Amino acid sequence: MSERLQKIIAAAGIASRRKAEELIVQGRVTVNGRVVSELGSKADPTHDHIRVNGKRVQAPQRRIYLLLNKPVGYVSTVRDPQGRPTVMSLLRGIKERVYPVGRLDYHSSGLLILTNDGELANALMSRRSAIPRTYHVKLEGHPAPEDLRRLEQGIPLDGRRTAPARLRALAGPPRGTLAVPGRAAGRPQPVVASHRPPKPWYELTLVEGRYHQVRRMFERIGQRVIKLKRVRIAFLTDQGLKPGQYRALTPAEVERLRTWRAGRAQ
Ligand code: URA
Repeated sequence: MSERLQKIIAAAGIASRRKAEELIVQGRVTVNGRVVSELGSKADPTHDHIRVNGKRVQAPQRRIYLLLNKPVGYVSTVRDPQGRPTVMSLLRGIKERVYPVGRLDYHSSGLLILTNDGELANALMSRRSAIPRTYHVKLEGHPAPEDLRRLEQGIPLDGRRTAPARLRALAGPPRGTLAVPGRAAGRPQPVVASHRPPKPWYELTLVEGRYHQVRRMFERIGQRVIKLKRVRIAFLTDQGLKPGQYRALTPAEVERLRTWRAGRAQ
């Protein structure tokens, strides 16, 4: 079936649709050996040889969407140069080449989406989508309330302020998944420490995902994160998925992710 070239390129995860249009106009896309630089041109991804910057765009496979509860001790990449176990080794009987959307550190656990839908993966990772991700973190020590408020309001990180975050103290080690309070993302919430366990737990919700962001934010206020678990991505929680287990997302969940808009109550 013929489709617009920018759609095919985006679906293959090579670039967003807008970027794909730029690549086409710049003459960096060929179909069966011919440069196609006109927007609106169509091709059939299963029969035509489409290349971007000389690299073959693979024909689309069946779309797969998985939600994995990543255990500690796995890297969230397809391959690891250091030979550590990857999240791919947890998948059974999945023939399609799925890959993780974003990263969870080797020492972090919790929810990770895997898919072969490049367009959705790009959308979920883009800053504009502002998908909230909620983490439970255990700290080595007790942060000062004013430092926690700084984290909520945003701190400079890599020369750019972090987006406003939600942060609250948890009464103790989290059991299962806690609901995220229903208030709008971005509005700072009061942080109330209910008592002082030796190593406190906090719940942090971010609408961006920079490199090692949670650990580095706490480092900036002098606190070491000793445990980190992602307990929620948008509306998805682990709902009984044990570490190492995964499930397919339902079509309704995929659609909800696809149409997610920042700030919209879902
Ligand atoms: N932030 C981190 O620092 N680590 C993770 O694994 C996820 C978010």
